[in-house]
Amino acid sequence: METIVKGMEGVSQAAEIIRNGGLVAFPTETVYGLGGNALDPEASRKIYAAKGRPSDNPLIVHVSCIDEVEPLVSDFPEDARRLMESFWPGPLTIIMPKAEAVPYETTGGLETVAIRCPENKVTLEFIREAGLPIAGPSANTSGKPSPTEAEHVLHDLNGKIEMILDDGPVGIGVESTIVDLTGEVPTLLRPGAITVEDLSETLGKKVEIDPAIIAGGVSEGIHPKAPGMKYRHYAPNAKMTLVTTKLLKDRDYVVTEDERAEADRQVTGCIDELVRRDEAEGLRVGIICCAETRDLYNSESDRKADIKVIGHRSEPLSMTHELFRVLREFDEDRIDRIYAESYSDRGVGFALMNRMRKAAGMTEIIAE
Ligand code: TXA
Ligand code: MG
Repeated sequence: METIVKGMEGVSQAAEIIRNGGLVAFPTETVYGLGGNALDPEASRKIYAAKGRPSDNPLIVHVSCIDEVEPLVSDFPEDARRLMESFWPGPLTIIMPKAEAVPYETTGGLETVAIRCPENKVTLEFIREAGLPIAGPSANTSGKPSPTEAEHVLHDLNGKIEMILDDGPVGIGVESTIVDLTGEVPTLLRPGAITVEDLSETLGKKVEIDPAIIAGGVSEGIHPKAPGMKYRHYAPNAKMTLVTTKLLKDRDYVVTEDERAEADRQVTGCIDELVRRDEAEGLRVGIICCAETRDLYNSESDRKADIKVIGHRSEPLSMTHELFRVLREFDEDRIDRIYAESYSDRGVGFALMNRMRKAAGMTEIIAE
């Protein structure tokens, strides 16, 4: 049984565990991380073992300030400094060429290292006190939704780590944006709360999007640059299916109010029908919708499906905040099938939809 300590109280003990080669789960603004000394190959091996994660999938190294980056990289591009000054502490991970000090166990054998400075007071103090960079993947069992509460960490890693620093539910709820600065052009490897538009604007140049993000990282012939993006991810136990309509798909969600209303009728109608069929077969069904569409669903009293509102679609951050928690709740409730509405890919919506598509194994139905 782990020690779980709330807030700042546990920081000194946590730092001590890290210096002694142990593992501590820590809060960030995105999701909870599973930390170990990033400079110690043995600590990285322990992290992979605790998560049940393939060891070719590199870890993100967490620092408490920009000055701590220098010893970890062999080249410090001007673009990196600019992004750090604009977005750190914050949900942005930057890939740079690694220094010798960073072991291959931490980088999954790569010559590059992913670095980020998270925006969470407890964790920044924890990194400072440890006096070491902290390797930290999301603190979930490999393949499961990332943990957004200490409780989720305990559920997945109970007995496998020394301590959990608990700072309550996270703010953003999906993992950091990853940008690779080791190629010719800056490239987005994973969408997050800092958007590709935010990055381009700060750098004053175009930022490419790794084709694997759009393909979902599972298509033949496309090899994601972030090794982690190739694995089936965030997967609930239930089979999950996204539902969209042609109206939305082909028009990039730029629709009139009438079209929007028609699209909503199509999507909710289609989901209602799918639920009816599944329930007739005795399956337990869950629905993921938004506040704007909640009342459009069939209110028949014999329908048992669990409808979960994950937020307002006009504010994607309200939905990223809830997504992983809701997926875990469906697991707890032994739901067999999940139907989820598709939302816009604009802005932070791109990060939300990326996680939803992965959770659904890229399965999407087009309603008419
Ligand atoms: O928000 C986050 O980034 C959270 C919190 C804990 O900081 N961490 C997180 O770590 O999401 P993880 O390990 O679950 O995801 C790291 C991703 C993986 O897809 C991995 O392949 C990629 O980053 N990555 C790490 N180092 C890389 C590198 N050198 N080159 C390319 N991709 C890398
Ligand atoms: Mg992860």
